[in-house]
Amino acid sequence: MKEQLLSIEARAKEELSGISDSKLLEELRVKFLGKKGEITAILKQMGKLSAEERPVIGQLANSVRADIENAISQKQAQLKAALAEKKLAAEKLDVTLPGRRGRVGRPHPLNAVMAEVEEVFLGMGFDIVEGPEVETDHYCFEALNMPKHHPARDTQDTFYINENVLLRTQTSSVQIRTMEKIKPPIRIISPGRVYRSDAVDATHSPLFHQIEGLVIDKGVTMADLKGTLELLMKRLYGDDCRIRLRPHHFPYTEPSAEVDIMCFNCHGEGCSMCKQEGYVELLGAGMVHPKVLEGCGIDPEIYSGFAFGIGLERITMGRYNINDLRLLYENDVRFLEQF
Ligand code: DAH
Repeated sequence: MKEQLLSIEARAKEELSGISDSKLLEELRVKFLGKKGEITAILKQMGKLSAEERPVIGQLANSVRADIENAISQKQAQLKAALAEKKLAAEKLDVTLPGRRGRVGRPHPLNAVMAEVEEVFLGMGFDIVEGPEVETDHYCFEALNMPKHHPARDTQDTFYINENVLLRTQTSSVQIRTMEKIKPPIRIISPGRVYRSDAVDATHSPLFHQIEGLVIDKGVTMADLKGTLELLMKRLYGDDCRIRLRPHHFPYTEPSAEVDIMCFNCHGEGCSMCKQEGYVELLGAGMVHPKVLEGCGIDPEIYSGFAFGIGLERITMGRYNINDLRLLYENDVRFLEQF
């Protein structure tokens, strides 16, 4: 029996040395130390031994068992450490590699230009006010000296909700809302969406944006209008940018003007972009009509002022050399990413 035990120990240790996996280790433990294992089998035969032999063999069996247990738990620790090391190696992280940048959005070109325009006017002491897009006939036309059946209404194809309510065709409605609410001095701009029943093409959209401006005070002249617009355009297009005023007609201003900007492409020489004009039309403006002032309770003998309405799409397209209005609304990321 003694030899048996010693041989068990020797075999266990030898088998143990070749094991590299915790499942096999467990099998080995059961084989030698389990209830049906080799050591137990020997202990069961102790009854056959003489009284002198029994404690000697018993002691030996216990020490062999303890030795094997020890060796197994040492092996277990080894395997565990090796596994942890392997895992660490597999999950190695190189903190010196460049990180992966998240995709960051950016302002839409219309919003970017709008923000620039607002910045320029805030710098000149203007306030920014908003008005409703669903508007009454009164604010959009009537109070702007465009009574029903006035031919000037024909130039703005209007979406009517009912006879009296419509989608505003121009931000000029906010002029009236402002003058009704606050007394001069007034210095505001009002950016926002406007609607016209136009078919979509490269230069038309049923929805577009305007920025309305209004200044009312004592002694305001056309020179103030020109200076204000010139400053805006120089900020948007650079210091060498020039504007020109052409006589025009709007029912709510007198005198009225269309304001052109020197062509970005040919700098006034004349080219295909400006149809050989050297200038491109940019906005409408003028001195607020005395009838409009009166209608809002402002005395035209005391106060005067100017107003203008800029198409945001037009200045954005000029700013970035965009040749098709639809690009601004399709929101194709490949297009938007360029700005
Ligand atoms: N409302 C005009 C338009 O939609 C633009 C405009 C012209 C606005 C003259 C004004 C102005 O305030 O004085 O075409």
